Amino acid sequence: MGKKMDFDHMKLIRQYAGGHRHLITLGRCIAALSAILVLIPYYDLWKIISIAVNGEDTSRISHYAWQAVILTVSALLIYIAALMCTHIAAFRVQANMRSSLMRRILTLPLGVFDEDGTGKIRRTVNDSTAATETFIAHQLPDKAVATITPIGLLVLVFAFDWKIGLLCMIPALIGFACMMTMMGKGMQEKMKEYQNALDTMSSEATEYVRGIPVVKTFGQTVHSFKRFKSAIDGFGKWTTDYTLILRWPMTAFMTCINAIFAFIVIAAFLFSKDGVTAGLILNIMYYIIVTPLITVALTKVAYSGEAEMTLIDALRRVESIMEIEPLENRNTGKVPADHSVELRDVTYRYKDALRDAVKHVSLRIEPGEHVAIVGPSGSGKTTLAELIVRFFDVSEGEILIGGVNVKDLPSEELMRQVSFVFQDSRLIKKSILENVRMAKPDATEAEVMDALKKAQCTDIIEKLPNGIHTVIGEKGTYLSGGEQQRITIARAVLKDAPILILDEATAFADPDNESRVQAAFDELSKDKTVIMIAHRLSTVVHADRIYVCDDGQCVESGTHDELMQSGGLYRKLFDEYSRSINWKVGA
Ligand SMILES: Nc1ncnc2c1ncn2[C@@H]1O[C@H](COP(=O)(O)OP(=O)(O)OP(=O)(O)O)[C@@H](O)[C@H]1O
Ligand SMILES: [Mg+2]
Repeated sequence: MGKKMDFDHMKLIRQYAGGHRHLITLGRCIAALSAILVLIPYYDLWKIISIAVNGEDTSRISHYAWQAVILTVSALLIYIAALMCTHIAAFRVQANMRSSLMRRILTLPLGVFDEDGTGKIRRTVNDSTAATETFIAHQLPDKAVATITPIGLLVLVFAFDWKIGLLCMIPALIGFACMMTMMGKGMQEKMKEYQNALDTMSSEATEYVRGIPVVKTFGQTVHSFKRFKSAIDGFGKWTTDYTLILRWPMTAFMTCINAIFAFIVIAAFLFSKDGVTAGLILNIMYYIIVTPLITVALTKVAYSGEAEMTLIDALRRVESIMEIEPLENRNTGKVPADHSVELRDVTYRYKDALRDAVKHVSLRIEPGEHVAIVGPSGSGKTTLAELIVRFFDVSEGEILIGGVNVKDLPSEELMRQVSFVFQDSRLIKKSILENVRMAKPDATEAEVMDALKKAQCTDIIEKLPNGIHTVIGEKGTYLSGGEQQRITIARAVLKDAPILILDEATAFADPDNESRVQAAFDELSKDKTVIMIAHRLSTVVHADRIYVCDDGQCVESGTHDELMQSGGLYRKLFDEYSRSINWKVGA
């Protein structure tokens, strides 16, 4: 329909179709051919009516009737062939899109999956590619039909009686004009808003469901979820606005295309002044049969426009992922000289954040040194650790491992050097064996067992119905936060990387679990460079050095005794911590 886009969507589709792009063209051509074939029987129909009205030789009727039947059936078969072509191409496009997306996603900084939300990425990989598939498989051939049919109809309408034809065209053209107003650039914007409103609503709904325990335990109502409510309100408002905008053009469109019939009646009156001829009756009967086709054709054109807008929106979503900058990898072939970690004046600000999460932090951790990072919640500890493994790249400064900038290390090398135990360790829905083995795919079952033992997981395994083959998250096999963290420690034990970053879980359910996690950490830390982010300050007392973070900065460093003596933030945090422990014991 010749709309202006900011990118050529058909070109993009052809790119994704690769060698199959000719099938798309072929499918469209065949579909157009079938559209022409479908129209020819109307000529046969006119002939049949003409024979009947003029009292001609009726034996010809069966000839035209058969011709019509054969043409209609062939048109149908040809249309099926067209659909087969476009379906094959569509599946290819969908597969290529998904694999390009997955390949791109693998190169993205891990932080993207926090920032943009995995839900949005999942929806794009699933739904937007599916929408593209549907468009190519169904709407493209339909669009070819929708384009050819009005042209064929024009020929049919004007061929027999151009005066009646002209009258029929008036409402058809007005209807078409109404439709164009519904398909303009503004509507494309509206379509995008619609998708966005739907997206917001669905992600807020997820948040809401996740928050139900909080709502219930605190005796709150739905209204405590203002964002969910406002997302619903936003969507409702959008839908109402959209409907109101479309009310008049849509009413006019429907009126016009249905009014064609009335126009024929008027035509019959006007033209019958000169006397009712057999020819006039013939043409009027014929037009009564043919003109509804104009309605169908125009409706199809209308829908093909709408489908195109959905497609453009889907492609835009796919491209928005394809356009995210992958992690820069300079692959210089440099090898870390040792297992030290150094941060030089590192600053990081999250995308769209107003302030830096990490500000000008410089520190050096010698090989084999055990350091702890402590600090109030939100002081940037996790961010700092994530920067070392390139969840994100630093905004300023540089991070070196064994004297090599992490950006100069191939990502496999970086991953070989560093193990990371996350604060909110989540296991994937697979067996414990597979979860642990992710760290080293060729590990034997015995090796995995050994790692689990070292990570103090024996009691967890014993509890489970199928031992290490139990699938987590299935049939009531759930693990507590502390238990999950122990399994992820086993993963790190198996990986056995020389540098270890532990982001301690904020809370452990019970003291038993806590001491086991501690024992697992200790086992894992042997002979390694360790960066331990600690919340329970009792665990950091023996660290070689403690860095204290506050508001993104590193404000103090030293051993436990040194820091206690200097009486700064650490002293304050430690005193608070001791009080809370005593309070717990005393309670
Ligand atoms: N994905 C994110 N996008 C934007 N800002 C973030 C993101 N993650 C963290 N922040 C912000 O960065 C700052 C540091 O967060 P970080 O998670 O590093 O703190 P932390 O010291 O690990 O806290 P805790 O002790 O609670 O784990 C906080 O102000 C936080 O709001
Ligand atoms: Mg944290």
